[in-house]
Amino acid sequence: MAIDQGTTSTRSILFDHGGQLVAVAQLEHHQYYPKPGWLEHDAAEIWRNVEKVVKRVLSDVGATASDIAAVGIANQRETIVVWERATGKPVRRAIVWQDTRTDAMVDEMARAPGARKIPLFSGLPLSSYFSAPKLRWMLNETPGLRDRAERGEVLAGTMESWLIWNLTGGPDGGVHVTDVTNASRTLLMNIRALEWDPELLEFFGIPAAILPDIRGSLETYGTGHGPLAGVPIAAALGDQQAALFGQTCFSAGEAKCTYGTGSFLLLNTGTELVASTHGLLTTVAYQVAGEPAHYALEGSIAIAGSLVQWFRDGLGLISSAAEIETLARTVDDNGGCYIVPAFYGLFAPHWRPEARGVIAGLTSYITKGHLARAVLESTGWQTREVLDAMNADSSLRLRALKVDGGMTSDNLLMQFVADVLDVPVVRPMVAETVSLGAGYAAGLAVGYWSDLEGLRRNWHLAAEWVPQMEGTRRESEYRNWTYAVELTLDWTN
Ligand code: G3P
Repeated sequence: MAIDQGTTSTRSILFDHGGQLVAVAQLEHHQYYPKPGWLEHDAAEIWRNVEKVVKRVLSDVGATASDIAAVGIANQRETIVVWERATGKPVRRAIVWQDTRTDAMVDEMARAPGARKIPLFSGLPLSSYFSAPKLRWMLNETPGLRDRAERGEVLAGTMESWLIWNLTGGPDGGVHVTDVTNASRTLLMNIRALEWDPELLEFFGIPAAILPDIRGSLETYGTGHGPLAGVPIAAALGDQQAALFGQTCFSAGEAKCTYGTGSFLLLNTGTELVASTHGLLTTVAYQVAGEPAHYALEGSIAIAGSLVQWFRDGLGLISSAAEIETLARTVDDNGGCYIVPAFYGLFAPHWRPEARGVIAGLTSYITKGHLARAVLESTGWQTREVLDAMNADSSLRLRALKVDGGMTSDNLLMQFVADVLDVPVVRPMVAETVSLGAGYAAGLAVGYWSDLEGLRRNWHLAAEWVPQMEGTRRESEYRNWTYAVELTLDWTN
């Protein structure tokens, strides 16, 4: 069983030994936007949803806990929860990864002594995207919380930590752990030692007492309670790392890109840690308990599918997301128009929180068809920027890019991605790679599957897009895109 706790919904999926999907149950949770740029989740609601989807998926197939080999968790990363040890009640709503309330604080911290060490120690740039500034904000802004944290009355963790604690008994003996992939997104873990780093904790002012123990990603943390009584809770991975695992990118040089609300390209660099000098993140890909960690380089793109949503809901130019492809096909090209969706700044490889979006190259010739193309193409160009950074950082060269996520059903976009990367793009039969990765990891941890090679054989090709664009056109359009990106950077003074 996989539990995929994502930004907008929570799912429980059952897989069989062939890696085929058997049953799925899904529930959305409320998105709280208390102020512009803020986004919060009710962790208690999320836990209730986990309980519901687990019960529902079991009852849909007439299964009980004894039919489940193991449970693996994949989760939205960076989002931070603080809860009471004695009652299991969250002290306030969770601050979600997209929340930018700490931008100004991060700006100020970037000028403090010690800030330069952060990427070296953590593998990450100092940004409001990650957990530490959010946790610091909670400790500073919630009356009495810092004292309670120092007294050990409250616990903190990313989403998998909150779920594992609840799954293993909550206030009655729940285990307070996190896995290395999630810990590698906090800005608090030393990326080489794989331990909380005292200097980073001090820099962000985080008491060690509230943090979970860091464990492997494939490891039995405890056993389930309630409907999962006795079932090993045997894996946890951040959702993007889970997709890398589900795509069976186990070797150095293999990469996947998940096209969802945002888009995340991860390249497995093996047990070698590659420090980026081109705006990528160094992150843990996975770790089998007791073995060396596998690392990845990651290019995180904040806005991909959510630009299509804005085109639908904000501009009202289409009535369903799928219609964008039809509209884009009414024209032959973008007509010279480029959209850079820097709605909340730009993530990789720029890391410029102050950037704001632009539509460049407008003339009266432009129709909504051209705009639709520019929307889709922006996802392709952002992928290209990330891949260029990967090529500059690492000697590993991609032979094919494995893709997954909702946007991969858009043929026009996938062809465009292959064209602008000049690399074939391939999609597997089982599109639920995040859940599959969590399932695979848990199954391996308990011996349900014996090795990685067996899992590779479960990967079957569903679709392939081969590059077709002429090189000179690709490079001249890329120059236009790069110019449009520059326009976003000096938007405010
Ligand atoms: O880093 C954020 C990422 O983990 C969120 O993924 O699929 O829940 O939007 P998703």
